[in-house]
Amino acid sequence: MMTMTLELVETAAFIDGLWIESETTFEVLNPADGTVITRVADLGASETRVAIEAAHRAFPAWAARTAKARGAILRKWSDLMLVHSEALARLMTAEQGKPLAESRGEVAYGAAFIDWFADEAKRAYGHAIPSPMPGKRLVSIKQPVGVCAAIAPWNFPIAMITRKVGPALASGCTVVVKPAAETPLCALAIARLAVEAGVPAGVLNIVTGKDSSAIGKALCDDARVRKLSFTGSTPVGKTLYAQCAGTMKKLSLELGGNAPFIVFDDADLEAAVDGAIASKYRNTGQTCVCANRLLVQSGIHDAFVARLTEKVAAMKVGPGTGEGVTIGPLINAKAMRKVGDLVNEAILAGAYATTGGGDDPYDPERFFSPTVLINVTPEMRLFQEEIFGPVAPVVKFETEQDAIDLANATPFGLASYFYSRDVGRCWRVAEAIEAGMVGINEGLISTVVAPFGGVKDSGLGREGSSEGLNEYLETKYLCFGGVGA
Ligand code: SIN
Repeated sequence: MMTMTLELVETAAFIDGLWIESETTFEVLNPADGTVITRVADLGASETRVAIEAAHRAFPAWAARTAKARGAILRKWSDLMLVHSEALARLMTAEQGKPLAESRGEVAYGAAFIDWFADEAKRAYGHAIPSPMPGKRLVSIKQPVGVCAAIAPWNFPIAMITRKVGPALASGCTVVVKPAAETPLCALAIARLAVEAGVPAGVLNIVTGKDSSAIGKALCDDARVRKLSFTGSTPVGKTLYAQCAGTMKKLSLELGGNAPFIVFDDADLEAAVDGAIASKYRNTGQTCVCANRLLVQSGIHDAFVARLTEKVAAMKVGPGTGEGVTIGPLINAKAMRKVGDLVNEAILAGAYATTGGGDDPYDPERFFSPTVLINVTPEMRLFQEEIFGPVAPVVKFETEQDAIDLANATPFGLASYFYSRDVGRCWRVAEAIEAGMVGINEGLISTVVAPFGGVKDSGLGREGSSEGLNEYLETKYLCFGGVGA
Protein backbone atom coordinates (compact mmCIF):
# COMPACT_ATOMS: atom_id res chain seq x y z
CA MET A 1 0.00 0.00 0.00
CA MET A 2 1.18 3.54 -0.75
CA THR A 3 -0.80 5.79 1.62
CA MET A 4 2.39 7.39 3.10
CA THR A 5 3.09 9.54 0.07
CA LEU A 6 -0.45 10.93 -0.19
CA GLU A 7 -2.24 13.38 2.10
CA LEU A 8 -5.94 13.58 3.04
CA VAL A 9 -6.42 9.83 2.65
CA GLU A 10 -9.56 8.55 4.42
CA THR A 11 -10.54 4.90 4.19
CA ALA A 12 -13.82 4.91 6.15
CA ALA A 13 -17.20 5.97 4.75
CA PHE A 14 -18.80 9.12 6.16
CA ILE A 15 -22.34 8.95 7.56
CA ASP A 16 -24.09 11.28 10.01
CA GLY A 17 -20.85 13.05 10.85
CA LEU A 18 -19.05 9.80 11.71
CA TRP A 19 -16.33 7.88 9.91
CA ILE A 20 -17.74 4.39 9.41
CA GLU A 21 -15.33 1.46 9.15
CA SER A 22 -16.40 -1.83 7.66
CA GLU A 23 -15.15 -5.39 8.05
CA THR A 24 -15.23 -5.73 4.30
CA THR A 25 -13.14 -3.36 2.21
CA PHE A 26 -12.22 -2.96 -1.45
CA GLU A 27 -9.00 -1.99 -3.19
CA VAL A 28 -8.41 1.41 -4.75
CA LEU A 29 -5.88 1.01 -7.55
CA ASN A 30 -3.50 3.42 -9.22
CA PRO A 31 -4.38 3.05 -12.93
CA ALA A 32 -0.87 4.12 -13.95
CA ASP A 33 0.82 1.04 -12.48
CA GLY A 34 -1.87 -1.21 -10.99
CA THR A 35 -0.57 -0.82 -7.42
CA VAL A 36 -3.00 -0.77 -4.51
CA ILE A 37 -3.22 2.76 -3.04
CA THR A 38 -5.31 1.66 -0.07
CA ARG A 39 -8.52 -0.20 0.86
CA VAL A 40 -11.83 1.54 1.54
CA ALA A 41 -14.97 0.53 3.49
CA ASP A 42 -17.30 -1.58 1.35
CA LEU A 43 -20.87 -0.64 2.30
CA GLY A 44 -24.17 -1.78 0.82
CA ALA A 45 -27.91 -1.21 0.83
CA SER A 46 -28.46 -1.29 4.60
CA GLU A 47 -25.77 1.32 5.30
CA THR A 48 -27.22 3.41 2.48
CA ARG A 49 -30.54 3.45 4.31
CA VAL A 50 -28.75 4.57 7.48
CA ALA A 51 -27.24 7.45 5.48
CA ILE A 52 -30.66 8.37 4.07
CA GLU A 53 -32.08 8.39 7.61
CA ALA A 54 -29.26 10.70 8.74
CA ALA A 55 -29.84 13.05 5.80
CA HIS A 56 -33.59 13.01 6.49
CA ARG A 57 -33.04 13.94 10.16
CA ALA A 58 -30.59 16.70 9.28
CA PHE A 59 -32.79 18.27 6.60
CA PRO A 60 -35.22 20.48 8.61
CA ALA A 61 -32.49 22.31 10.54
CA TRP A 62 -30.25 22.78 7.48
CA ALA A 63 -33.15 23.99 5.32
CA ALA A 64 -34.19 26.42 8.08
CA ARG A 65 -30.86 28.25 7.97
CA THR A 66 -30.70 31.28 5.75
CA ALA A 67 -29.06 30.95 2.34
CA LYS A 68 -26.47 33.41 3.60
CA ALA A 69 -25.59 31.21 6.58
CA ARG A 70 -25.33 28.08 4.44
CA GLY A 71 -23.32 30.03 1.88
CA ALA A 72 -20.77 31.11 4.48
CA ILE A 73 -20.04 27.47 5.37
CA LEU A 74 -19.89 26.46 1.72
CA ARG A 75 -17.51 29.27 0.84
CA LYS A 76 -15.21 28.11 3.62
CA TRP A 77 -15.38 24.58 2.21
CA SER A 78 -14.48 25.82 -1.26
CA ASP A 79 -11.57 27.84 0.20
CA LEU A 80 -10.28 24.76 2.02
CA MET A 81 -10.29 22.80 -1.24
CA LEU A 82 -8.11 25.49 -2.77
CA VAL A 83 -5.80 25.59 0.26
CA HIS A 84 -5.37 21.81 -0.12
CA SER A 85 -5.34 21.92 -3.91
CA GLU A 86 -1.98 20.19 -4.35
CA ALA A 87 -2.83 17.33 -1.95
CA LEU A 88 -6.23 16.82 -3.64
CA ALA A 89 -4.68 16.94 -7.11
CA ARG A 90 -2.08 14.31 -6.19
CA LEU A 91 -4.78 12.10 -4.70
CA MET A 92 -6.82 12.50 -7.88
CA THR A 93 -3.93 11.62 -10.18
CA ALA A 94 -3.16 8.60 -7.98
CA GLU A 95 -6.66 7.10 -8.13
CA GLN A 96 -7.90 8.41 -11.48
CA GLY A 97 -4.72 8.73 -13.55
CA LYS A 98 -5.16 12.14 -15.19
CA PRO A 99 -2.08 14.34 -15.68
CA LEU A 100 -1.33 16.44 -12.60
CA ALA A 101 -1.96 19.74 -14.39
CA GLU A 102 -5.47 18.52 -15.26
CA SER A 103 -6.03 17.36 -11.67
CA ARG A 104 -5.06 20.81 -10.40
CA GLY A 105 -7.52 22.28 -12.90
CA GLU A 106 -10.25 19.94 -11.72
CA VAL A 107 -9.75 20.88 -8.06
CA ALA A 108 -10.26 24.54 -9.01
CA TYR A 109 -13.26 23.61 -11.21
CA GLY A 110 -14.73 21.50 -8.38
CA ALA A 111 -14.24 24.18 -5.73
CA ALA A 112 -15.83 26.75 -8.04
CA PHE A 113 -19.15 24.86 -8.02
CA ILE A 114 -19.31 25.12 -4.23
CA ASP A 115 -18.30 28.79 -4.22
CA TRP A 116 -20.65 29.83 -7.02
CA PHE A 117 -23.75 28.07 -5.67
CA ALA A 118 -23.03 29.46 -2.18
CA ASP A 119 -23.86 32.86 -3.69
CA GLU A 120 -26.45 31.83 -6.24
CA ALA A 121 -28.76 30.26 -3.61
CA LYS A 122 -29.24 33.74 -2.15
CA ARG A 123 -31.02 34.56 -5.41
CA ALA A 124 -33.53 31.66 -5.37
CA TYR A 125 -36.34 34.08 -6.16
CA GLY A 126 -40.00 33.26 -6.49
CA HIS A 127 -42.51 35.49 -8.29
CA ALA A 128 -45.27 37.89 -7.41
CA ILE A 129 -47.95 37.07 -9.99
CA PRO A 130 -50.47 39.78 -10.97
CA SER A 131 -53.83 38.35 -9.94
CA PRO A 132 -56.62 38.13 -12.56
CA MET A 133 -59.16 37.91 -9.69
CA PRO A 134 -60.05 40.71 -7.25
CA GLY A 135 -59.44 39.84 -3.61
CA LYS A 136 -56.69 37.34 -4.32
CA ARG A 137 -52.92 37.72 -4.23
CA LEU A 138 -50.68 35.16 -5.91
CA VAL A 139 -47.03 34.37 -5.33
CA SER A 140 -44.65 31.48 -5.93
CA ILE A 141 -41.78 30.59 -3.62
CA LYS A 142 -38.81 28.22 -3.97
CA GLN A 143 -38.12 25.55 -1.38
CA PRO A 144 -35.41 22.87 -1.14
CA VAL A 145 -36.46 19.50 -2.56
CA GLY A 146 -35.35 17.49 0.51
CA VAL A 147 -32.92 14.59 0.74
CA CYS A 148 -30.95 14.18 -2.51
CA ALA A 149 -28.89 11.30 -3.86
CA ALA A 150 -25.79 12.00 -5.95
CA ILE A 151 -24.21 9.13 -7.89
CA ALA A 152 -20.88 10.25 -9.30
CA PRO A 153 -18.53 8.89 -11.99
CA TRP A 154 -14.78 8.16 -11.84
CA ASN A 155 -13.66 10.51 -14.63
CA PHE A 156 -14.03 13.72 -12.56
CA PRO A 157 -13.77 12.48 -8.96
CA ILE A 158 -14.30 15.93 -7.38
CA ALA A 159 -16.06 18.19 -9.88
CA MET A 160 -18.91 15.78 -10.67
CA ILE A 161 -19.62 15.56 -6.92
CA THR A 162 -19.45 19.28 -6.20
CA ARG A 163 -21.56 20.08 -9.28
CA LYS A 164 -24.38 18.18 -7.52
CA VAL A 165 -23.59 18.79 -3.84
CA GLY A 166 -22.95 22.54 -4.31
CA PRO A 167 -26.46 23.45 -5.48
CA ALA A 168 -28.06 20.85 -3.20
CA LEU A 169 -26.48 22.11 0.01
CA ALA A 170 -26.71 25.76 -0.99
CA SER A 171 -30.45 25.47 -1.56
CA GLY A 172 -31.03 23.71 1.79
CA CYS A 173 -31.12 20.05 0.73
CA THR A 174 -29.11 17.30 2.41
CA VAL A 175 -27.23 14.70 0.38
CA VAL A 176 -26.14 11.07 0.20
CA VAL A 177 -23.23 10.72 -2.24
CA LYS A 178 -22.18 7.44 -3.84
CA PRO A 179 -18.73 8.02 -5.38
CA ALA A 180 -17.44 5.65 -8.06
CA ALA A 181 -15.71 2.58 -6.63
CA GLU A 182 -12.62 3.45 -8.72
CA THR A 183 -12.25 6.92 -7.12
CA PRO A 184 -13.64 7.10 -3.56
CA LEU A 185 -10.57 8.84 -2.06
CA CYS A 186 -11.22 12.31 -3.48
CA ALA A 187 -14.84 12.15 -2.26
CA LEU A 188 -13.75 11.21 1.25
CA ALA A 189 -11.01 13.86 1.26
CA ILE A 190 -13.44 16.64 0.40
CA ALA A 191 -15.88 15.30 3.02
CA ARG A 192 -13.12 15.76 5.60
CA LEU A 193 -12.71 19.36 4.46
CA ALA A 194 -16.49 19.82 4.64
CA VAL A 195 -16.38 18.86 8.33
CA GLU A 196 -13.56 21.36 8.88
CA ALA A 197 -15.66 24.04 7.15
CA GLY A 198 -18.59 23.41 9.51
CA VAL A 199 -21.04 21.34 7.43
CA PRO A 200 -23.23 19.77 10.15
CA ALA A 201 -23.60 16.02 10.76
CA GLY A 202 -26.00 14.30 8.36
CA VAL A 203 -26.02 17.13 5.79
CA LEU A 204 -23.37 15.42 3.64
CA ASN A 205 -22.95 11.63 3.68
CA ILE A 206 -20.57 9.54 1.58
CA VAL A 207 -21.43 5.89 1.03
CA THR A 208 -18.48 3.99 -0.44
CA GLY A 209 -19.00 0.53 -1.89
CA LYS A 210 -18.32 -1.83 -4.77
CA ASP A 211 -21.94 -2.89 -5.25
CA SER A 212 -23.16 0.20 -7.09
CA SER A 213 -26.40 -1.51 -8.21
CA ALA A 214 -27.45 -2.35 -4.63
CA ILE A 215 -26.59 1.13 -3.34
CA GLY A 216 -28.26 2.78 -6.35
CA LYS A 217 -31.42 0.70 -5.89
CA ALA A 218 -31.60 1.55 -2.17
CA LEU A 219 -31.39 5.24 -3.10
CA CYS A 220 -34.05 4.92 -5.81
CA ASP A 221 -36.49 2.84 -3.75
CA ASP A 222 -36.48 5.09 -0.68
CA ALA A 223 -39.33 7.60 -0.71
CA ARG A 224 -37.41 9.92 1.64
CA VAL A 225 -34.98 10.61 -1.22
CA ARG A 226 -36.77 13.27 -3.27
CA LYS A 227 -34.19 13.83 -5.99
CA LEU A 228 -31.53 11.76 -7.70
CA SER A 229 -28.69 13.15 -9.79
CA PHE A 230 -26.53 10.74 -11.76
CA THR A 231 -23.57 11.18 -14.07
CA GLY A 232 -22.55 8.06 -15.98
CA SER A 233 -23.52 5.75 -18.79
CA THR A 234 -26.85 5.86 -20.64
CA PRO A 235 -27.81 2.22 -19.85
CA VAL A 236 -27.30 2.78 -16.10
CA GLY A 237 -29.11 6.13 -16.33
CA LYS A 238 -32.11 4.41 -17.93
CA THR A 239 -32.19 1.79 -15.16
CA LEU A 240 -32.12 4.50 -12.48
CA TYR A 241 -34.83 6.45 -14.36
CA ALA A 242 -37.08 3.37 -14.26
CA GLN A 243 -36.25 2.61 -10.62
CA CYS A 244 -37.10 6.17 -9.56
CA ALA A 245 -40.59 5.99 -11.09
CA GLY A 246 -42.00 4.20 -8.03
CA THR A 247 -41.22 7.14 -5.74
CA MET A 248 -41.66 9.84 -8.41
CA LYS A 249 -38.31 11.54 -7.77
CA LYS A 250 -37.01 14.63 -9.43
CA LEU A 251 -34.16 13.53 -11.70
CA SER A 252 -31.01 14.90 -13.29
CA LEU A 253 -29.28 12.46 -15.62
CA GLU A 254 -26.01 13.45 -17.28
CA LEU A 255 -25.35 10.50 -19.55
CA GLY A 256 -23.22 9.42 -22.49
CA GLY A 257 -22.33 11.56 -25.48
CA ASN A 258 -21.11 11.15 -29.04
CA ALA A 259 -19.92 14.68 -29.72
CA PRO A 260 -19.43 15.76 -33.33
CA PHE A 261 -16.55 18.18 -33.95
CA ILE A 262 -17.13 19.79 -37.35
CA VAL A 263 -14.42 21.66 -39.25
CA PHE A 264 -15.70 23.64 -42.23
CA ASP A 265 -13.50 24.72 -45.14
CA ASP A 266 -13.62 28.34 -43.91
CA ALA A 267 -12.32 27.50 -40.42
CA ASP A 268 -9.15 28.92 -38.90
CA LEU A 269 -7.01 25.78 -39.30
CA GLU A 270 -4.69 26.26 -36.31
CA ALA A 271 -7.57 27.18 -34.00
CA ALA A 272 -9.55 24.13 -35.17
CA VAL A 273 -6.61 21.77 -34.60
CA ASP A 274 -5.96 23.20 -31.12
CA GLY A 275 -9.67 23.03 -30.27
CA ALA A 276 -9.87 19.43 -31.45
CA ILE A 277 -6.89 18.48 -29.29
CA ALA A 278 -8.29 20.28 -26.24
CA SER A 279 -11.67 18.64 -26.65
CA LYS A 280 -10.58 15.17 -27.73
CA TYR A 281 -7.58 14.41 -25.52
CA ARG A 282 -8.67 16.07 -22.25
CA ASN A 283 -8.56 13.46 -19.47
CA THR A 284 -7.06 11.03 -22.02
CA GLY A 285 -10.32 11.11 -23.97
CA GLN A 286 -12.37 10.06 -20.94
CA THR A 287 -14.99 12.81 -20.70
CA CYS A 288 -18.63 12.78 -21.79
CA VAL A 289 -18.02 15.96 -23.78
CA CYS A 290 -14.89 14.78 -25.62
CA ALA A 291 -15.08 15.16 -29.40
CA ASN A 292 -16.00 11.64 -30.50
CA ARG A 293 -16.22 12.18 -34.28
CA LEU A 294 -14.20 14.73 -36.21
CA LEU A 295 -16.22 15.70 -39.31
CA VAL A 296 -13.95 17.59 -41.69
CA GLN A 297 -14.97 19.26 -44.97
CA SER A 298 -13.13 18.00 -48.06
CA GLY A 299 -11.35 21.30 -48.87
CA ILE A 300 -9.53 21.50 -45.52
CA HIS A 301 -9.40 17.76 -44.75
CA ASP A 302 -5.82 16.95 -45.75
CA ALA A 303 -4.28 20.07 -44.17
CA PHE A 304 -6.26 19.51 -40.96
CA VAL A 305 -5.27 15.85 -40.72
CA ALA A 306 -1.59 16.64 -41.36
CA ARG A 307 -1.43 19.31 -38.65
CA LEU A 308 -3.50 17.28 -36.17
CA THR A 309 -1.30 14.23 -36.72
CA GLU A 310 1.85 16.26 -36.19
CA LYS A 311 0.61 17.65 -32.87
CA VAL A 312 -0.90 14.39 -31.58
CA ALA A 313 2.27 12.45 -32.42
CA ALA A 314 4.19 14.90 -30.18
CA MET A 315 2.01 14.25 -27.11
CA LYS A 316 3.77 12.72 -24.14
CA VAL A 317 2.36 9.49 -22.72
CA GLY A 318 3.08 8.43 -19.14
CA PRO A 319 1.92 8.46 -15.53
CA GLY A 320 0.04 11.63 -14.61
CA THR A 321 2.81 12.67 -12.22
CA GLY A 322 5.43 12.65 -15.03
CA GLU A 323 6.89 15.97 -16.21
CA GLY A 324 5.15 17.21 -19.37
CA VAL A 325 2.78 14.22 -19.61
CA THR A 326 -0.49 15.00 -21.41
CA ILE A 327 -1.82 11.46 -21.92
CA GLY A 328 -2.24 9.27 -18.84
CA PRO A 329 -3.43 5.69 -18.43
CA LEU A 330 -6.97 4.52 -19.17
CA ILE A 331 -8.96 3.79 -16.03
CA ASN A 332 -8.78 -0.03 -16.22
CA ALA A 333 -8.26 -3.13 -18.36
CA LYS A 334 -11.90 -3.13 -19.53
CA ALA A 335 -11.46 0.38 -20.93
CA MET A 336 -8.23 -0.66 -22.67
CA ARG A 337 -10.05 -3.61 -24.30
CA LYS A 338 -12.99 -1.47 -25.42
CA VAL A 339 -10.83 1.23 -27.03
CA GLY A 340 -8.56 -1.40 -28.63
CA ASP A 341 -11.53 -3.31 -30.06
CA LEU A 342 -13.12 -0.16 -31.52
CA VAL A 343 -9.87 0.87 -33.21
CA ASN A 344 -9.04 -2.63 -34.50
CA GLU A 345 -12.53 -3.08 -35.96
CA ALA A 346 -12.28 0.30 -37.71
CA ILE A 347 -8.84 -0.50 -39.15
CA LEU A 348 -10.08 -3.88 -40.40
CA ALA A 349 -12.99 -2.06 -42.08
CA GLY A 350 -10.65 0.35 -43.93
CA ALA A 351 -9.67 3.12 -41.49
CA TYR A 352 -6.01 4.15 -41.31
CA ALA A 353 -4.05 5.42 -38.28
CA THR A 354 -1.93 8.44 -39.22
CA THR A 355 -0.45 8.25 -35.71
CA GLY A 356 -0.92 5.82 -32.80
CA GLY A 357 -3.45 3.06 -33.44
CA GLY A 358 -2.89 0.72 -30.50
CA ASP A 359 -1.53 0.04 -27.03
CA ASP A 360 1.28 2.41 -26.14
CA PRO A 361 4.86 1.16 -25.77
CA TYR A 362 5.13 3.07 -22.46
CA ASP A 363 3.00 0.26 -20.91
CA PRO A 364 0.78 -1.61 -23.36
CA GLU A 365 -1.38 -2.98 -20.56
CA ARG A 366 -2.56 0.42 -19.27
CA PHE A 367 -1.81 3.13 -21.83
CA PHE A 368 -3.33 3.65 -25.29
CA SER A 369 -1.38 5.73 -27.80
CA PRO A 370 -2.98 9.04 -28.81
CA THR A 371 -4.45 8.16 -32.18
CA VAL A 372 -5.78 9.84 -35.30
CA LEU A 373 -7.81 7.63 -37.67
CA ILE A 374 -8.78 8.66 -41.19
CA ASN A 375 -11.08 7.04 -43.80
CA VAL A 376 -13.64 6.50 -41.02
CA THR A 377 -17.23 5.86 -42.10
CA PRO A 378 -20.56 6.17 -40.22
CA GLU A 379 -21.01 2.39 -40.35
CA MET A 380 -18.03 1.86 -38.03
CA ARG A 381 -18.83 1.19 -34.37
CA LEU A 382 -16.53 3.97 -33.14
CA PHE A 383 -18.62 6.49 -35.09
CA GLN A 384 -21.71 5.31 -33.21
CA GLU A 385 -20.38 4.66 -29.70
CA GLU A 386 -18.67 6.82 -27.11
CA ILE A 387 -14.97 5.86 -27.39
CA PHE A 388 -13.79 7.16 -23.98
CA GLY A 389 -10.16 6.99 -25.05
CA PRO A 390 -7.53 9.11 -26.87
CA VAL A 391 -8.72 8.27 -30.39
CA ALA A 392 -9.83 10.86 -32.96
CA PRO A 393 -11.78 9.32 -35.89
CA VAL A 394 -11.93 11.66 -38.90
CA VAL A 395 -14.82 11.54 -41.39
CA LYS A 396 -14.70 13.58 -44.62
CA PHE A 397 -17.85 15.44 -45.74
CA GLU A 398 -18.85 17.74 -48.65
CA THR A 399 -21.71 20.12 -47.75
CA GLU A 400 -23.06 21.94 -44.70
CA GLN A 401 -26.18 19.77 -44.79
CA ASP A 402 -24.04 16.60 -44.91
CA ALA A 403 -22.26 17.79 -41.75
CA ILE A 404 -25.53 18.45 -39.93
CA ASP A 405 -26.95 15.08 -40.99
CA LEU A 406 -23.81 13.25 -39.85
CA ALA A 407 -23.72 15.19 -36.57
CA ASN A 408 -27.33 14.26 -35.79
CA ALA A 409 -27.04 10.61 -36.86
CA THR A 410 -26.85 9.41 -33.26
CA PRO A 411 -29.24 8.84 -30.36
CA PHE A 412 -26.97 11.02 -28.20
CA GLY A 413 -27.02 14.80 -27.88
CA LEU A 414 -24.68 16.12 -25.20
CA ALA A 415 -21.86 18.35 -26.50
CA SER A 416 -21.08 19.38 -30.08
CA TYR A 417 -18.48 21.65 -31.66
CA PHE A 418 -17.85 23.33 -34.97
CA TYR A 419 -15.33 25.72 -36.53
CA SER A 420 -16.33 28.27 -39.16
CA ARG A 421 -15.75 31.98 -39.77
CA ASP A 422 -19.09 32.53 -41.50
CA VAL A 423 -21.52 34.21 -39.06
CA GLY A 424 -24.62 33.02 -40.89
CA ARG A 425 -23.37 29.45 -40.92
CA CYS A 426 -22.53 29.68 -37.22
CA TRP A 427 -26.15 30.50 -36.38
CA ARG A 428 -27.62 27.95 -38.81
CA VAL A 429 -25.47 25.05 -37.66
CA ALA A 430 -25.76 25.89 -33.93
CA GLU A 431 -29.54 25.83 -34.26
CA ALA A 432 -29.64 22.65 -36.35
CA ILE A 433 -27.44 20.44 -34.18
CA GLU A 434 -29.37 18.23 -31.77
CA ALA A 435 -27.29 18.73 -28.62
CA GLY A 436 -27.54 20.41 -25.24
CA MET A 437 -24.27 22.30 -25.73
CA VAL A 438 -22.49 23.76 -28.76
CA GLY A 439 -18.91 25.04 -28.87
CA ILE A 440 -18.53 27.50 -31.75
CA ASN A 441 -14.87 28.01 -32.60
CA GLU A 442 -14.15 26.63 -29.13
CA GLY A 443 -13.19 23.16 -27.89
CA LEU A 444 -13.51 23.69 -24.13
CA ILE A 445 -16.99 24.75 -23.06
CA SER A 446 -17.43 23.59 -19.45
CA THR A 447 -17.83 26.29 -16.80
CA VAL A 448 -19.75 26.55 -13.56
CA VAL A 449 -21.83 29.50 -14.81
CA ALA A 450 -23.29 27.82 -17.92
CA PRO A 451 -25.98 25.11 -18.12
CA PHE A 452 -24.38 21.69 -18.71
CA GLY A 453 -26.54 18.82 -19.96
CA GLY A 454 -27.89 16.93 -22.93
CA VAL A 455 -30.89 15.98 -25.02
CA LYS A 456 -32.10 12.64 -26.41
CA ASP A 457 -30.23 9.67 -24.85
CA SER A 458 -27.73 12.03 -23.21
CA GLY A 459 -30.06 12.76 -20.34
CA LEU A 460 -32.31 15.12 -18.46
CA GLY A 461 -31.84 18.39 -16.63
CA ARG A 462 -28.96 20.85 -16.42
CA GLU A 463 -26.08 21.21 -13.99
CA GLY A 464 -24.20 24.40 -13.18
CA SER A 465 -25.69 27.89 -13.63
CA SER A 466 -28.98 29.10 -12.15
CA GLU A 467 -30.67 26.22 -14.01
CA GLY A 468 -28.55 23.82 -11.97
CA LEU A 469 -29.78 25.41 -8.75
CA ASN A 470 -33.40 25.11 -9.85
CA GLU A 471 -33.00 21.32 -10.11
CA TYR A 472 -32.73 21.23 -6.28
CA LEU A 473 -35.72 23.51 -5.65
CA GLU A 474 -39.46 22.96 -5.80
CA THR A 475 -41.77 25.78 -6.82
CA LYS A 476 -44.68 26.28 -4.44
CA TYR A 477 -47.61 28.45 -5.48
CA LEU A 478 -49.40 30.42 -2.72
CA CYS A 479 -52.85 31.87 -3.30
CA PHE A 480 -53.98 34.39 -0.67
CA GLY A 481 -57.74 34.81 -0.66
CA GLY A 482 -60.00 37.24 1.19
CA VAL A 483 -57.55 40.09 0.76
CA GLY A 484 -60.22 42.61 -0.19
CA ALA A 485 -60.42 44.69 -3.31
C1 SIN B 1 -18.17 14.79 -17.89
O1 SIN B 1 -17.37 14.20 -18.58
O2 SIN B 1 -19.20 14.23 -17.50
C2 SIN B 1 -18.00 16.22 -17.44
C3 SIN B 1 -17.01 16.98 -18.16
C4 SIN B 1 -17.02 18.45 -17.83
O3 SIN B 1 -17.60 18.91 -16.84
O4 SIN B 1 -16.42 19.17 -18.60
